[in-house]
Amino acid sequence: MAPVQISEVKGNSREHRTATHTHIKGLGLRPDGTAERNAAGFVGQAAAREACGVIVDLIRAKKMSGRAVLLAGGPGTGKTALALAVSQELGTKVPFCPIVGSEIYSAEVKKTEALMENFRRAIGLRVRETKEVYEGEVTELSPEEAENPLGGYGRTISHLLITLKAARGTKKLRLDPSIYEAIQKERVRLGDVIYIEANTGAVKRVGRSDAYATEFDLEAEEYVPVPKGEVHKKKEIVQDVTLHDLDVANARPQGGQDVMSMMGQLMKPKKTEVTEKLRMEINKVVNKYIDQGVAELVPGVLFIDEVHMLDLEAFTFLTRALESPISPIVILASNRGLTPIRGASDTLPPSAHGIPPDLLARLLIIPTHPYGPEEIRAIVRARARTEGISISEPALEAVGELGVQRSLRYALQLLTPASVLARVGGKMNAEVGVDEVTEATGLFLDAARSVGALGESVSGYIS
Ligand SMILES: Nc1ncnc2c1ncn2[C@@H]1O[C@H](COP(=O)(O)OP(=O)(O)OP(=O)(O)O)[C@@H](O)[C@H]1O
Ligand SMILES: [Mg+2]
Repeated sequence: MAPVQISEVKGNSREHRTATHTHIKGLGLRPDGTAERNAAGFVGQAAAREACGVIVDLIRAKKMSGRAVLLAGGPGTGKTALALAVSQELGTKVPFCPIVGSEIYSAEVKKTEALMENFRRAIGLRVRETKEVYEGEVTELSPEEAENPLGGYGRTISHLLITLKAARGTKKLRLDPSIYEAIQKERVRLGDVIYIEANTGAVKRVGRSDAYATEFDLEAEEYVPVPKGEVHKKKEIVQDVTLHDLDVANARPQGGQDVMSMMGQLMKPKKTEVTEKLRMEINKVVNKYIDQGVAELVPGVLFIDEVHMLDLEAFTFLTRALESPISPIVILASNRGLTPIRGASDTLPPSAHGIPPDLLARLLIIPTHPYGPEEIRAIVRARARTEGISISEPALEAVGELGVQRSLRYALQLLTPASVLARVGGKMNAEVGVDEVTEATGLFLDAARSVGALGESVSGYIS
């Protein structure tokens, strides 16, 4: 009887996708906190980068929660790029939740509810627990099949045999089939180091045993040594979750294994509501854990781009939420100057960035400034490198010039079409030259020229 194949599902690799900010790898600061002229993909904008560096330090020192920062500056001056760089500097253990102002409007969820949910996505909890586990390298993994007890042709898995090897001894375990599912979910195969929690049967893949380290080095794989000590032992487990994870996990109680409760889950709506009451309950438990020293709060970042899209009600909620004892740091970004406040344009006068005065008073404001020709050229060069586009020096000058005259965004957007033109034209190495840049500007308009063109044709159409 052949063992059931655990087919490996490869995650789709993101490496070859190039997005708007792919060239940004961090803030590019020196150890003393001053900005390099050109580092980590970031060019210029030194003061704003240094200010963001200070914020990163404060967040790491957990001294920043409950405060709000506003990145304010014209379009294309790097506000979104800065926020992204902050998240990269913080690493993966500090939650970073980016949203756009308009995201909170939906027909199904109240906007304050949507904001609250994102607040809780941005607050982490690091839980340390000592648990009884079986940990080791998987040296045998074979599900045992049996005739389907209900008859018919199907076979079911009656139990799972798994052998784990640790530094001091090996152990053969006979496990419940429900654990087999967990093992499939974690994509465990022979040679992986895993642990199984004795009480809950939860399975966690730690990494690949380093005995296999030379096998292939194609994948981003974490190699770990064979665990010390015995297979069966007590282990301190550190888990990073967000308050939102806890809310969701508790709103959707797990059903049993029997058919009735599985049917019950099918009938239930996918998203059980997380109520205010549930959140209060969870906060209470979390606070107890923190007092006992089991858990530690890790305030992260809630980034709200295009903040002028929020309305008065959302702003009031935001101001109040900032003052609650558990709150992330909130980073806002806007490219608007004096703008009416949404939802209050007939009662309140226009306000800076469309933000009401009581929130404005609580903000630390970081300005971003337009780039000079030198910086624009450097950004275009960095972009071309990330997109794998080769471009001649004169063409780079020309694109830089476009960035100064029209906008940085327009210049960056022309790079790809210009490189396509170069390839179609059969250029050597598909190098973009001045001709391709000129041709691309002819094909694709910037906003100002586009309005001009439309104006003409519309009047032509009417007359
Ligand atoms: N200093 C910089 N160094 C490198 N790349 C930059 C820099 N500033 C901006 N960019 C890049 O230029 C493009 C536009 O910047 P970004 O999207 O951050 O602007 P923004 O200030 O958020 O504009 P908007 O107000 O329109 O949202 C992005 O591709 C960004 O990665
Ligand atoms: Mg932006």
